[in-house]
Formats: sequence, C-alpha cells, structure tokens
Amino acid sequence: MACWSLIALLALSQTSSAHYTKFPEGFTFGVATAAYQIEGAWNVSGKSENVWDRLTHTRPDMIADGTNGDIACDSYNRYREDVEELAYLGVDFYRFSLSWARILPTGQVNYLNPDGIRYYNDLLEALEAKNIEPLVTLFHWDLPQSLQDLGGWANPKMIEYFRDYADVCFREFGDKIKSWITFNEPYEICEDAYGDEKKAPAVNSHGVGNYLCSDTLLKAHAEVYHLYNDTYRSKQNGKVMISINSIWYEPKDPENAEQVTLAEVANQFKFGWFAHPIFTEEGGYPSIMVENVARQSEAEGYPRPRLEQFDEYWIQRIKGTSDFLGINHYTTHLITGAGVDPVAKSPSWLKDIGALTTMEVGEESASEWLRVVPTGFANLLRWCKSSYNDPPIYITENGVSDRGTLQDYKRIQYFNDYLTEILNVIYEDGVNVLGYTAWTLMDNFEWRAGFSERFGLYYVDINDPALPRTPKLSAEYYRQLTNTRELPQDDRFKDPAKVHDEF
Ligand code: NOJ
Repeated sequence: MACWSLIALLALSQTSSAHYTKFPEGFTFGVATAAYQIEGAWNVSGKSENVWDRLTHTRPDMIADGTNGDIACDSYNRYREDVEELAYLGVDFYRFSLSWARILPTGQVNYLNPDGIRYYNDLLEALEAKNIEPLVTLFHWDLPQSLQDLGGWANPKMIEYFRDYADVCFREFGDKIKSWITFNEPYEICEDAYGDEKKAPAVNSHGVGNYLCSDTLLKAHAEVYHLYNDTYRSKQNGKVMISINSIWYEPKDPENAEQVTLAEVANQFKFGWFAHPIFTEEGGYPSIMVENVARQSEAEGYPRPRLEQFDEYWIQRIKGTSDFLGINHYTTHLITGAGVDPVAKSPSWLKDIGALTTMEVGEESASEWLRVVPTGFANLLRWCKSSYNDPPIYITENGVSDRGTLQDYKRIQYFNDYLTEILNVIYEDGVNVLGYTAWTLMDNFEWRAGFSERFGLYYVDINDPALPRTPKLSAEYYRQLTNTRELPQDDRFKDPAKVHDEF
C-alpha cells in the first residue's frame, strides 16, 4: 500500500508546461460505436432478443427519455452512409461491436444466422473499400436474453459460451479483422449490470453478483485470448485486447496522505479489478481489493469472501492475455476521505472500497458522472505505465456529452485538451500510447440516458424517419486532425462566446 501511495504521489506531482501539437509517426485515429446503440433492426432478419431489448421493452421507465434501440440510428440499413461519414472524417480505423444475438440467435453455436453473418461481412467490405481498418468488439453489453435467463455472466458456463461465440467470429470474419476487443468495459458489465441496476440486465445483486461476474468474465476473456493464440493467430496475424474503463480517482487535497492512499485503493478497485489480473507480473486481483472484501464479508456474516481469489491455474491462465491495454477514459472524480458513501448499498463494491468521493471538479457535461478534467487523463496514463510495466496502450474511447448542438465548441475543447494530455505523456513521460478513438461517430442510444445525452461527431435527428446525420463542428475538427496529424489551431474551432487564449 505504501508503495502504491508513493507511485500515486509521483504521478500526481508531474505536470507539464511544453506545448506539443504533433502526433508521432504511426499514431492512429479512429471513432467508435456499439451494436445496440446504433444498429436498430432489433427483431429483423433472424436477430433474437438481447438484454437491452428486454430492459427497454419491459421497463421503459428506466430509460431517461423512454426511447430504446429498436431503430436507434438504423445502421443495420444505413451502414453505407456510416462508412461515408467515416471516410469523410479520414479515420484510420472504425471501432464497432458485433451483436451476439444477430449472429447466434439462440446464443449458442447450434445455429448461425446467415443474415447476421452477411450484414457484418457487408460492413467489413464497405470499410475495406475505403481503406478503414476494423477494430471489433465481441461484447459490448448486449447479451442474448436466452443466456441471461441462465444467469448471464454470473454463470460460469458463460466461459464456454463466450469462447464458442468468439470462435465463430474469428472463423467467419477473422480474414478481414486484425484487431479484436473481447470485452468493452468489464466494470460496467459486472458492477453496473450485475451489482446494480444502472445497465441491463439490472440484476442488482450488489456485492455478490458483481464479483461472480468478474470471475466468469476474466476467465472467458482469457479463454478467448488463448483460443486466438492457439488456433487463429498464425493464420490471421491479428491482435486481441480488452478495453477497461476508468473513472480516475485523485485525492481532493494532494497533500492529504489518507486521501492519497484511498485514491489508490479506489483506482485498484475500479481499474485494477480487471487490469491487475491481466497486466501485472503477480496476476490475480489487487491484494487491497481481496483484503477489503474479505474483511467486509466477514463483518457482514458471510461464510466466505464475496470476492473469490483465482487459484494458481487461473492466475497463470489469465496473466498476459492482452496484446494492448485498451483504455476507455472520460473523467476524474475526487476522494475526500474514509467512510461509506451514503448511497452505498450493503454489501456492495462501493462499501468495500470504504472511501468517500465527490464530483466537484472540472466543468460539467450533459452526463451527471462526466466532468471535464484533462489532467486526470495524464495522471491515469502515467499510472498505467508504472503499474502495468509500460504496456502499449490504445485509447479505445474518449469523448463528452451535450444535449445536441451542431456548434459543439465544448466537445472540440474537450478533445483538444484531452489530446494535449496524451501528447504530453507521450513526449514527456514516454507513455506508449499508439492510437486514439473518439466516442462516438454519431449521436446514438446512450443506454439508460436514451438520446438525452449526445456524444456524436455527427448529429442524428431521431424525429426524422430518414435519421439524417449532419456533421457537427467537431467532425470538421476531427477531420482536420486526422488529415494533418496535428492538433488543429484554426480560429473557427474556438468558441466565439468564450475567450480561449489558445487550445
Ligand atoms: C462507454 C461505453 O462503452 C459506451 O457504450 C458509452 O456510450 C460511452 N461510454 C459514453 O457513456
């Protein structure tokens, strides 16, 4: 713990003054989407129901504006337009996800849906024609409902089912896809969807289901990595990674030793929960996490810790199973001291951390959880370099929400400030960041926020049946960035209502 605190202090003490604008040779840019958020066609051409279909249809009250992904951006039918937009943006790669229920309607490999396979092959061909590399996520939260009925990620059988599904995807699409992501944001899957009801299937088994999920998910991830290694890598020459999301925690007062220590504990609980087993020499869950949950479980009367440490076989099997560290990053929160958050359920992940947080930092966005704190991004990246032995890193998501405007100066400022921090850590700290992905190509179904929070480079008018996509000013900014490989300096990207000295 003392060592962690020291690392955290060191990371926080570094700030930079130089002003870099040019990205290194070979640095790549992309944009991301996810199947349920854009495809629509929820029950078309053989696709079966997934957990988001179920939640939005049975509990529309749980979605801020009552919308759902039945049609979303209709990318199932309009993917050619999407590819035109991608080409206009000049991106090197497009990150999208596969819909499990579209490819395997039963959830299992007894039946492959030809229309599902055809759809993704068509999309891949359209991308190839424009020279855009696919970066493909196998699981971005839309589990077939039939598998959820068996317990979903709390059921260890899912290790085999996920491996089977991945096997089909590698076999059917692996000649065209060289970069794979197994899971998008495992924290969101396990904590938000199983330990809470913030995401579908909203199991809300706090403090129990979340840890059963991480056990299954990390093993399933490792099995898919090994499958690729053993069976496909030599023929397909691709890479496999996982995308871990972070709310980065910092002490409110960097001079306060207790806050510094607790910020490190919180980072281990959030990022380390999934990164430590894969990216450290030691493997397994972070020891502080194992200790805290064991202590709490005992105090709560549980016969055994709610978080079960992996045995030696699994520690070894999971270690090193990612060719890159994929990071989704949006924001930073502050730690104010020890205690149980008033909103924490009992038992729960939040209670297990034992720290109090505040979001009173940075400018607000349309998302309650998202504050604009670019320096936190730099601190997270330095921390990843030191904690995980200098891994090659892809930023697989970064972006900010508003309520929907074409003159999205705030988004431009956000990109510019966060990209500046990436340049700083690359040039000043030698952090090995290889690529950047903006979230997201176009406004889309933002999960429980529906369409009320918009992250797109393109504006989508969901009230027009043609679902027209219109480039926002941020799309022009991103286009210039990919074209010049330099942070755009044009005055047209600066908010006339605000006096920014410089980007
Ligand atoms: C993370 C998720 O991967 C993505 O689906 C979501 O829309 C963005 N963050 C913004 O919340």
